[in-house]
Amino acid sequence: MRWLPGGDTRTINYYSPYPVVMDRGQGCMVSDVDGNEYIDFLNNYSALIHGHAHPGVTAAISRQAERGTVLGAPSVVQAEHARAVSERVRSVTQVRYCNSGTEATLFAIRAARAFTGKDLIVKVDGGYHGTHDVVEVNMFASGQGKKQAGLPDSFPPVDIPHGVPAQTASQVLVIPFNDAAAAAYVLERYHHEIAALIVEPMLAAGGGIAPHDGYLHTLRELTRKHGVLLIFDEVATFRLGPMQNILGIEPDLTALGKIIGGGLPIGAFGGRQEIMMQFDPGSDNPLYHSGTFCGNDVTLAAGVAALEHYGDQEVSRLNGLGELLLKSMTAAARDEGVKGTAAGVGSYGHFHWGEGPLRNAADVHSRSQNLGMLPALFHLEMMNQGVFMSRRSLFCLSTPMSVQHIDAFLEAFSSTLRMLRPYIAKTHPNLLLSD
Ligand SMILES: Cc1ncc(COP(=O)(O)O)c(C=O)c1O
Repeated sequence: MRWLPGGDTRTINYYSPYPVVMDRGQGCMVSDVDGNEYIDFLNNYSALIHGHAHPGVTAAISRQAERGTVLGAPSVVQAEHARAVSERVRSVTQVRYCNSGTEATLFAIRAARAFTGKDLIVKVDGGYHGTHDVVEVNMFASGQGKKQAGLPDSFPPVDIPHGVPAQTASQVLVIPFNDAAAAAYVLERYHHEIAALIVEPMLAAGGGIAPHDGYLHTLRELTRKHGVLLIFDEVATFRLGPMQNILGIEPDLTALGKIIGGGLPIGAFGGRQEIMMQFDPGSDNPLYHSGTFCGNDVTLAAGVAALEHYGDQEVSRLNGLGELLLKSMTAAARDEGVKGTAAGVGSYGHFHWGEGPLRNAADVHSRSQNLGMLPALFHLEMMNQGVFMSRRSLFCLSTPMSVQHIDAFLEAFSSTLRMLRPYIAKTHPNLLLSD
């Protein structure tokens, strides 16, 4: 607290009354400084695919560290990683590295603006693309934000976080997820000004909301028709496939991060060669992209090792375990007489209290209103029962997990709901199923 505002570097790590200080991780287990052990269903907000200290990854890190962490020159390991990415991500022919998903979306957007010569961006409400200004604009679910200039009243107003210049709102149009008509409206009307539409194939941090059948295909058709680039932010969803491979959609640009760094900081953006060639310093009027630690060799060596141990079979095994968890959680809530839904895709999910549709960020918002202390009590009791997940009920899997870990999660989940039932009956009777 004395040296760090709020006691930590990441706002998201904070939860009341104070976050537990973790000491170490091994496989899918983490332990805190008091020696308590937890199964890690947080995985650093989905950034870890092999949990902690995977022997193949730590060996790759040590090997590379002994040869130098970053040599300020092109390297073989960078080419190896780039080949692995382009072999796995259907639409990525060429790639550039940076240090975070935030930078990846920032540079994908810049590439799109430079390529199209247009400035306006379309983003999806509740889509999380990191923390740079333009992607921080979202619809204001309580309806008190700033009306979006030029859009009809059916488009809710937008909210701009403190510290982001108000004029940022004029650089972006925000549309609801899973609403193809809204996308068609803005693209038809403003395509002359729009450089790109950026979307996560699933609203990941925004609640694990899957795309409706055909929604993303429609976005692909509309953007192509209107000369607008489609950017898929697969920073979180790469672990699932990536999703563009599963859906058979080729976006123009893709932002990546999280698991491709093997547990070390990374971001990457890539796509069609003609767009990415703008970054070739030998081209006419090249686009500048640099960063002292972009493409550092230790991260990329860790990433190559992590990807080698996460082949197609592991991807589908983990997604299968995740689907089992999602289904079983919703059933377990029902068995405990509590209204709730586990939403997500494969190895990534969220728990939402209550009932009702989960199509977009407004639905997620309305399901999370007036819950009082319930999410906090749920989270703390899950930790007491040995499951580490996020306060906002994000959970995800890692490869050291098997059915036993899913069972342990479900046992903790059911027993937490059972323990909370009298409290729920008193404070939120609307969340109990009638017998
Ligand atoms: C979809 C998505 N995009 C971008 C980011 C930002 O990545 P980073 O935290 O590495 O800046 C995240 C992080 O959670 C994310 O989930």
